[in-house]
Amino acid sequence: MRRRRIYEGKAKVLFEGPEPGTVVQYFKDDATAFNNQKKGTITGKGVLNNRISEYLMVRLAEIGIQTHFVRRLNMREQLVREVEIIPIEVVVRNIAAGNFCKRFGADEGTPLPRSIVEYYLKNDELGDPMICEEHITAFGWAATQDLDDIMQMSLRVNDFLSGLFMGVGLKLVDFKLEFGRLWENEEMRIVLADEISPDSCRLWDVETQEKLDKDRFRRDLGKVEEAYQEVARRLGVLPEAGPVDIKGPKVMQ
Ligand code: TMP
Ligand code: ASP
Repeated sequence: MRRRRIYEGKAKVLFEGPEPGTVVQYFKDDATAFNNQKKGTITGKGVLNNRISEYLMVRLAEIGIQTHFVRRLNMREQLVREVEIIPIEVVVRNIAAGNFCKRFGADEGTPLPRSIVEYYLKNDELGDPMICEEHITAFGWAATQDLDDIMQMSLRVNDFLSGLFMGVGLKLVDFKLEFGRLWENEEMRIVLADEISPDSCRLWDVETQEKLDKDRFRRDLGKVEEAYQEVARRLGVLPEAGPVDIKGPKVMQ
């Protein structure tokens, strides 16, 4: 079946869904870093992120976090509700890493006194600048009430996922979330959207501190594919046929 392509991002393609109000998210193996300055392919990433994000979204729904996720369709695609994406990237940090270290001169690995929530404007041309609540409400990207909901949901997601990952020997260092607006009978709800995967989280092994996320690609640390496989394996969602299956079909609509 040929579907109309709605949008192509750096790691995913969105197609029109089978029913009104739905969208198909196709996960690519493409990887970018530093706002598209570095480009590459991580073989099997799309298949693994599809499974990992499915698993995490389902677990979050079980604790009452509303998400856009409906169901996984196949190796690389999942059906989601159509939402209006709020143009903000919400980053939650538990341990100093990445840009936080650059910005504040902190040593990587330093635990933060408490979880810190940051906002960035989703705008590639501007390089996703960091913004604060004032910018968000003044420019109308989200209302104060929406932002309160977003902050509360983000902290709940952090608490839950920190525990879930700790259970499989991984530290949730930091992660990025995106939210969308969903309308139903004149009523608007804010739901968790996009994906949660080693592309959007920093995950370190509890024992060895080994990085098991996209930093292996960003910083040329090697064993990139293996890191994504290891996260999937620990969560119990590694496809059984292993790497052959993970490469999956190359063809795309
Ligand atoms: P940062 O340290 O580069 O700001 O990243 C913080 C977290 O957010 C990290 O887990 C990676 C994730 N992230 C994204 O998912 N997309 C992005 O565009 C950026 C900059 C970070
Ligand atoms: N996803 C962003 C990019 O494509 C940044 C990153 O994850 O490092 O450049």
